[in-house]
Amino acid sequence: MNFYDVIAARHTVREFSEKPVAPEALERILGAGLMAPSNDHLRNWEFVILEGEDKLRALEGVRRFVSGLPENSLDRWPAGSVQQQMYAHAMPRQYTMLAGAPVVILPFFKANPAIWEPRAINHLNTLAGVWCCIENILLAAAAEGMGCALRIPVGEGGPALAKQLGAPEGWVLPCYIGLGWPAPEDRRPAQVPVALQDKLHKGTW
Ligand SMILES: Cc1cc2nc3c(=O)[nH]c(=O)nc-3n(C[C@H](O)[C@H](O)[C@H](O)COP(=O)(O)O)c2cc1C
Repeated sequence: MNFYDVIAARHTVREFSEKPVAPEALERILGAGLMAPSNDHLRNWEFVILEGEDKLRALEGVRRFVSGLPENSLDRWPAGSVQQQMYAHAMPRQYTMLAGAPVVILPFFKANPAIWEPRAINHLNTLAGVWCCIENILLAAAAEGMGCALRIPVGEGGPALAKQLGAPEGWVLPCYIGLGWPAPEDRRPAQVPVALQDKLHKGTW
C-alpha cells in the first residue's frame, strides 16, 4: 500500500475477528513504533504484549476503569450529531474491543515529573513523544491490513495496571491498544467532514 493509502485505510476497529496476529507482523508494527520521532532522542518506550489468558487477567483487574465512557459522554453533543453517533457506537464496546482483540499492546513511556503539572508546552514532551510512537503503530497496523482500538486509561486504571504488571516507578501507560483483524461486522461510525481549505491560513490566521 502506498503511504497515503495507509493513512486513508487507518481507522479505529472495535470488533475483531479471531484470526491471530502473526508474530512477525507484530514485530514489524512495534518496530515501526520505535522509529517515531522522540523528545531528547531517547525513545524511552517499552511495550507489554498481552494475549490469551494474560490479556484477560490483566483486563479483569482494570475492567471497571475500561468499561464504558463517562455517563455524560452522549449529552455533550447535539442529538444525532456525528460525535454523538460515535460515542453511542463506542461506549458499549470499551471493554469488549480490548478483550476481543487477539493482542493488546500496552505502550509505556518514562514520564518526566513535569507532565503532572505542566506550565509550558514542552513539559509534555514525553507524553507527546509516546503519541508519535502510538501513531506509527496505528499506521503500521493499517499497512498490514489490521486495525487498532484505542482506550485511554481513566482514574486509577492506568497506574493500577502498571503496578499489576510490575512496571518500574515513573513508567506511565498512555493508552491500551487492541490489535487485530477487523471482524466482518466491524463498522466505522460516520466521520466529521474536514476540508483542508477550511483549515488553511496562508501568511496569517
Ligand atoms: C487521544 C485519543 C483518545 C481516544 N480515546 C478513545 C477511547 O477511550 N475509546 C475509544 O473507543 N476510542 C478512542 N479513541 C479513538 C477515536 O474515537 C477515533 O480515533 C475517532 O472517533 C476517529 O475515528 P477513526 O479513528 O476511525 O478515524 C481515541 C483517539 C485518540 C486520538
